Amino acid sequence: MRIRKAVFPAAGLGTRFLPATKAQPKEMLPLVDKPIIQYGVEEALASGCDQIIIVTGRGKQAIEDHFDVSYELERMLEDRKKTDLLAIVRHISDLIHVAYVRQKEAMGLGHAVLTARELVGEEPFAVLLADDVIDADPPCLEQMIRVFEETQCSVLATQIVEGEAISAYGVLDVKPADGRFQGRLYEIVNMVEKPRPEEAPSNLAIIGRYILTPAVFNTLSQIQAGAGGELQLTDGMRLLLKQEKMYAYVYEGRRHDTGDKLGFLKATVEFALKREDLGEPFRRYLRSLKL
Ligand code: G1P
Repeated sequence: MRIRKAVFPAAGLGTRFLPATKAQPKEMLPLVDKPIIQYGVEEALASGCDQIIIVTGRGKQAIEDHFDVSYELERMLEDRKKTDLLAIVRHISDLIHVAYVRQKEAMGLGHAVLTARELVGEEPFAVLLADDVIDADPPCLEQMIRVFEETQCSVLATQIVEGEAISAYGVLDVKPADGRFQGRLYEIVNMVEKPRPEEAPSNLAIIGRYILTPAVFNTLSQIQAGAGGELQLTDGMRLLLKQEKMYAYVYEGRRHDTGDKLGFLKATVEFALKREDLGEPFRRYLRSLKL
């Protein structure tokens, strides 16, 4: 089966980024000049998905407006013959059909994914956490879809996180999958959400890209509040693991945790340096700083 649908949980309150997120969704904070969520949506499209499902909540209207047509703006750009900008603005609304579903309360990532159940239906689907911006070629999700196509099982993106920082993640217990995919593939044995460092089963953290079979909706509807008092996706997936084989894939690429202030700053600098129009002057500016 093909992966057509990509779910973006975006109902979180963004408390890590206050006060910027008091009246503005964290998914709309710009990395250079593009909102964070657009990086993820473009990755999903480039990976072959053609249906985007965004799980929103109160105060998230800017996301819907962003992917919608902006008549006044397009008209003004047309009148002023700003064709480059017009193309950029049209590209966003032409990207794709986006469906929205509202999560009435921010009850956790597992609950957010469950909210998309009706829109996803009975097919395997992708989940992308917009905070995790992954710079990769081919895109991270495309790499994972290749694994799914061969295994027909759920696949989670993973990377090594050293030291106590592992406690901020879902953590995997794995066994090697016979060197498949150049040794990047593991079979998942167990997983635990945000363990204490001494209880982490490994240093393999779950990163915000998932391919899940629809059976996860049943297991998500059975879980109780877990870490942080929230309905955790990791807990739903641990139940799924009792029914189905699941894989972890060590993707190739560079991940930025843009939900974290320092991660956001680093991503901004790296993306700006890679830009054709800004890279050189920005590099000169950085060099001129007395650090
Ligand atoms: C979420 C997941 C966690 C995962 C992480 C990746 O945590 O619950 O399992 O490791 O995303 O970024 P959050 O960052 O929302 O606390």
